[in-house]
Amino acid sequence: MLLRSRITGTGSYAPEKILTNFDLEKKVDTSDEWITERTGIKERRIAKDAETTSDLCLEASKRALQAADMKPGEVELIIVATMSGDMPMPSTASLLQKKLHAKNAAAFDLNAACSGFLYGLSVADNFIKAGTFRKVLLVGAEIMSKFLDWQDRSTCVLFGDGAGAVILEKARGPRGILSTHLFSDGNLWDFICLPGGGSQAPPSAKTIKDKLHFIKMKGNETFKIAVRTLEKLVIDTLRENNLKPSDVALLIPHQANLRIIKATAERLNMPMNKVAVNLDRYGNTSSASIPIALDEVVRSGRIKRDDYILLEAFGAGLTWASALIRW
Ligand code: COA
Repeated sequence: MLLRSRITGTGSYAPEKILTNFDLEKKVDTSDEWITERTGIKERRIAKDAETTSDLCLEASKRALQAADMKPGEVELIIVATMSGDMPMPSTASLLQKKLHAKNAAAFDLNAACSGFLYGLSVADNFIKAGTFRKVLLVGAEIMSKFLDWQDRSTCVLFGDGAGAVILEKARGPRGILSTHLFSDGNLWDFICLPGGGSQAPPSAKTIKDKLHFIKMKGNETFKIAVRTLEKLVIDTLRENNLKPSDVALLIPHQANLRIIKATAERLNMPMNKVAVNLDRYGNTSSASIPIALDEVVRSGRIKRDDYILLEAFGAGLTWASALIRW
């Protein structure tokens, strides 16, 4: 019997505060019509000033642990995929470990931007298959709202805050993570970046004045590459697993733009009722978007035992990634 990793629990959490497109109309020169037509987003969640990324992780993790019927002390590894952690050091995973009382776990963060959750899934899967860890908590969590220029309409309307978590456990048999596929092209690093605060531009009065601590994105250029890349990625992922698009019960894409999601679904000839979409309610929550969507479809009973689920993401790096799961 093949040794695999299997998702045995999911959980998610988003801050209570809702910011609608109409609220944004009062802040910047934009309209509900533009945002809806160009992105599909209607509203997003925004963290409170005092709320941190590890706080969102904690709520999502508690729910995933409960679903997996696991105690925090049983967790052997915590991975937090994030690009908006509580602080550069220590890792948000270590801060989550403290809050969760998961005292027996190793902990680290992973940054692959919007592809972070799928990169994390691959790392967790390989650790489990190698026998290094048996029980892994993987969280994708972001507070994007604290890194946005609320005067820049080209970015501030796109993102939102939230967290999604999964528990992965060692399992035998045909069900579980079947394959993961990771890619990057660092030549295109400046398509989406947050240039200030690191060793290239340490925090200073000038970096603040120049707004280098906010997310910058070449939206239109990124859009074109995302569509092309994701179309090839999903076809290649299915081919490597000897599956046809019609074998897939549900596509769970990264939630950046409904037009990108629809183009990927069209390439697979998949009707939109076989695609998980929640960006209308959350916007782009980067590494949190796939695990939030996964938790929603699991809890609503939309996926069933033995279903093939295809996950894909694209984001800063540039990075892109996919995974195929037999549920
Ligand atoms: N409200 C109104 N107008 C806006 C606007 C807003 N919030 N933001 C931009 N515009 C304007 C632009 O200024 C531009 O005006 P111009 O034609 O007079 O210059 C026009 O709308 C079109 O801008 P453009 O950037 O070409 O729009 P687009 O159709 O590419 O949509 C994005 C913009 C960002 C929604 C889209 O490019 C996108 O989703 N990109 C990919 C994001 C992504 O996948 N990132 C990876 C994961 S993070």
